[in-house]
Amino acid sequence: IEDLTGIGETVDFPVGVAIDSRETSGAASELLLRHFDQVTAENFMKPEAWYDADGDFVSANAEADALMDFAQEHDLGVYGHVLVWHGQTPARFFQDDAGAPLAADEAGRAVLRDRLRTHIFDVAEYLAGKYGPFGSETNPLRAFDVVNEVVSDGSEFADGLRRSEWYRILGEEFIDLSFAYADEAFNEVHAADGADRPIALFINDYNTEQGGKQERYRALVERLLERGAPVDGVGHQFHVSLAMPVSALEQAIVAFEDLPVTQAVTELDVTTGTPVTQAKLVDQGYYYRDAFRVFREHADSLYSVTVWGLTDGRSWRAGSGAPLLFDDQYRAKPAYFGAVDGELPA
Ligand code: G3I
Repeated sequence: IEDLTGIGETVDFPVGVAIDSRETSGAASELLLRHFDQVTAENFMKPEAWYDADGDFVSANAEADALMDFAQEHDLGVYGHVLVWHGQTPARFFQDDAGAPLAADEAGRAVLRDRLRTHIFDVAEYLAGKYGPFGSETNPLRAFDVVNEVVSDGSEFADGLRRSEWYRILGEEFIDLSFAYADEAFNEVHAADGADRPIALFINDYNTEQGGKQERYRALVERLLERGAPVDGVGHQFHVSLAMPVSALEQAIVAFEDLPVTQAVTELDVTTGTPVTQAKLVDQGYYYRDAFRVFREHADSLYSVTVWGLTDGRSWRAGSGAPLLFDDQYRAKPAYFGAVDGELPA
């Protein structure tokens, strides 16, 4: 572990990794600290992680605490994920007291706006209550995905938005409201004295390296900015495979560079397909090399680059072929040597 150059030392932006408490101790944590300067909770800051079985906001989120404690102790930044999503969100958000679907009328909208605001404020209050105001020395939180995956996969809707429960009841307004509430909670109410916008607020989505989705994403971001929504950054998940040309990743970043936002690569992984062979792992090394060369070239546009997991076996895409930089024995793969632009086998 000690012999290798830390990935974070080879780039001018923070390099993050998605984890849970399995990575905050032992050999995994040593590997993490060697290479990364930022962490994201893979699952435990998502909406459902904040509620108990009765639907009450938890008094303690042990996994979120483990991540924040670890970051605080080791001087890492925390990129939060995610305040508002259609996935991993308690169904009761969208139900009335009898358990029936909340009506998409004025009364239903008022209820859901209130729940949205309360959720975001409760998360902010929890994290500031335990770690101090945002932007203070004790609080490692730096950014948050405010909304996740709100763009539709197909082109069937004029507004290009996913038909989620948030959308069914509130329409596009839920996105503006999410940013407004997050800005108020994180950057005003719970900001340290003198801290100017301590938490960068991101929109995040997948397949942004693909044509139609990218255009719908950009159109939405433009509308949000025109309406004055406090969007600081645009996230690209970049869950890709060796079949996706690296030039598409670059094009996705370029597509937003004329807008007044920063950008982040939020969930990078590159599957090899199965069976995993040595030849494919070498190809993957070149893929990560070319991708990180693109990221270095566009460093001025990038807030951070996050890899979606530390070791292959821990990846949500493990079944599609060894997507990450390190194997399950904590050994660096060709993918690592590519990411640091080191030597790769011919
Ligand atoms: O917590 C339960 C555990 O109690 C149970 O024993 C176990 C059995 O399957 O499941 C556990 O929940 C799993 C959870 O991860 C925590 O490990 C869920 O089944 C599993 O579906 C969930 O998967 C996560 C997925 O989001 C859910 O949508 C992945 O780990 C996580 O990597 C993935 O992350 C998403 C991003 O948030 C958004 N972008 C896409 C990305 C990949 O889907």
